[in-house]
Amino acid sequence: MTLPKQVSIVEVGPRDGLQNESQPVSPAVKIELIRRLNEAGLRYIEAGSFVNPSRVPQMADSAQVFQGIERQPDTIYAALTPNLTGFERALAAGVCEVAIFAAASETFSQKNINCSIDESLERFAPVMEAARAANLRVRGYISCVAGCPYEGNVSAERVMQVAGRLLQMGCYEISLGDTTGVGTPGSISRVIEAVSRVVPIPQLAVHCHDTYGQALVNIYSALQLGVAVVDSSVAGLGGCPYARGASGNVATEDLVYMLNGLGIEHGIDLDKIIAAGTYITEQLGQETDSNVARARLPRS
Ligand code: HMG
Ligand code: MG
Repeated sequence: MTLPKQVSIVEVGPRDGLQNESQPVSPAVKIELIRRLNEAGLRYIEAGSFVNPSRVPQMADSAQVFQGIERQPDTIYAALTPNLTGFERALAAGVCEVAIFAAASETFSQKNINCSIDESLERFAPVMEAARAANLRVRGYISCVAGCPYEGNVSAERVMQVAGRLLQMGCYEISLGDTTGVGTPGSISRVIEAVSRVVPIPQLAVHCHDTYGQALVNIYSALQLGVAVVDSSVAGLGGCPYARGASGNVATEDLVYMLNGLGIEHGIDLDKIIAAGTYITEQLGQETDSNVARARLPRS
């Protein structure tokens, strides 16, 4: 089994990380976090989302955030867009790229985006068309690939079907979301093997939440299958407001440390990403969820 020589990290902290925070986080803090993530070497940063602001108030200021970002020419600043309204807002805010998000579980789809899986794919069609016209690439997420907080088991076949449809619609990459972190190397490998029958491995990413402490080992099993795009969140921030109990994504610091140990290139400076994590956790008044940051930081 050969591991990829290089992995691209998709930093989702400013979006997935902060969308679940109950306390307000100002646009200025988000902009400074994004600057520090850039400085640490991250070149793909999901900076916000253009969803119904009454459903996810924390992302209501995404346009302001996009306006304030000190843009680096080699960095993609992306956002979630669930429908055409969201896409138009995102386009006006100057996003570089957007992501649509479907689910492999009907109940989660209803709770998260208020429609069935089929209806969500219908809603995405005009987004795809508008994105093509605007020359923007579209990433596709699938939530609940290894289990659903409402329905329990989710079959790999179901994930494969949704992935195939997102690819057919024109998504250039499909990110497999283990929303509640219930997956293990067994289930995650089965899902990747099934999905790879319809989506080539180079077009797959993994998005592992760490609720059950399985994220890094799940990512390792994905790497063994050739997946070379990994989503992560600085300081392990995050969760989905519609998946109760879902904790953060794998911490970017922990992912970088593991990739360093495996000799896999990624372009991120470990000390600087730890510093970015310290910045945001101090702003939030919280402890970091990164084991590596905890191990490295001086104890008080
Ligand atoms: P809906 O409630 O079905 O939509 O929303 P609607 O069309 O009936 O509209 C309701 C109201 O929302 C209307 O306003 C619309 O104008 C407004 P009103 O007339 O009541 O004043 N509206 C919007 N406003 C701004 N931007 C928009 C927008 N769309 C409608 N884009 C919708 C459907 C999907 C928008 C809604 O259910 C929603 O926003 N849900 C939140 C979904 C979300 O952000 N979830 C978290 C992100 S997904 C995630 O975390 C998982 C992931 O990380 C992967 C993983 O871990 O698995 C990606
Ligand atoms: Mg997520």
